[in-house]
Amino acid sequence: MRAIIPAAGVGKRLRPHTLNVPKVMINLAGKRLIGHVLDAVESAGVDSVSIIVGYKGEQVEEYVNRYYSHLRLDFPYQIERKGLGHAVLEGLEDKEESVLILLGDTVFDVDFKQFVASKSNAIAVVKVDDPRRFGVAEIDANHLITQLVEKPEHPKSDLALAGMYYIQDQRILKAAIEKLIADDIKTRGEYQLTDALQLMIESGEHIEAVEINGWYDCGTKESLLDSHRFLLNHHLSTEHSSGSIIHPPVFIHDEAKVSDCVIGPNVTIDKGAEVSGAILTDTIVGKGAIIKNMILSHSLIGDHAVTEGQKRVVNVGDYSELKLN
Ligand code: G1P
Repeated sequence: MRAIIPAAGVGKRLRPHTLNVPKVMINLAGKRLIGHVLDAVESAGVDSVSIIVGYKGEQVEEYVNRYYSHLRLDFPYQIERKGLGHAVLEGLEDKEESVLILLGDTVFDVDFKQFVASKSNAIAVVKVDDPRRFGVAEIDANHLITQLVEKPEHPKSDLALAGMYYIQDQRILKAAIEKLIADDIKTRGEYQLTDALQLMIESGEHIEAVEINGWYDCGTKESLLDSHRFLLNHHLSTEHSSGSIIHPPVFIHDEAKVSDCVIGPNVTIDKGAEVSGAILTDTIVGKGAIIKNMILSHSLIGDHAVTEGQKRVVNVGDYSELKLN
């Protein structure tokens, strides 16, 4: 089966971490985000993948070619960013074949095999408190989608589209997106995948809503750290101590140097980083970064960044109070 992974985004909300790398190349728990997504599609039995690239796409291409060369790969470039529907179109072919579409910046904790075994088209949905910043699905008693609306101001349902779509015949979706473009149907100035799927529903196609729980989007610093925590807990947990105290789960690259630290839980330390005298929790430390004498929590430290705190010497008498804020 084939998969399409849109991965062209700039990742503006994650600046400065996306100034040098695209969002999907951020390292989470010892692996690039796009690597986690590719592992997921492989678990669904996918053997051919189109990754739609744009912003710093050559980095994605190089990484994926290096580590996933056992898959059939291609990298269509989305030159002008005209929306998710427009991006997905780059990967669709005029061949009767099912296709799994998975957003490149999202981590899912679901049974992919079961999802792609659906008898009809299927879209993963997740209940959210504020659906206004998502595509929203209204469904009937049989979980079939009756209406899809992209980022409605007044949502009629709390089911948000999670970014995971199974389409039984890609030609039908391709025709729907082409119609959007031909008729210039845009929402919020873009050709939306949600609008194309709504056209499919209007022409009589059945699309089932499959409710999922494990869904980690990586759009903001906090959501990225949530995904990081999930990945460390579920996929990786290497302990690597060198005069330091390690509270799993953590990922410390073999070529990182860690000394006199308390590391974890939920910490990634990437290749070549040097961390000494530090206490780190819920933190991602990039390649070659240097951290000395710092207490860090909920932090993102980019590649080759240097952060240095102070080691203090105190001489505090009995019953004294010293508070360094
Ligand atoms: C896209 C889709 C939206 C979906 C969301 C999931 O929006 O257009 O329907 O709910 O992904 O993350 P974006 O986040 O790219 O604005």
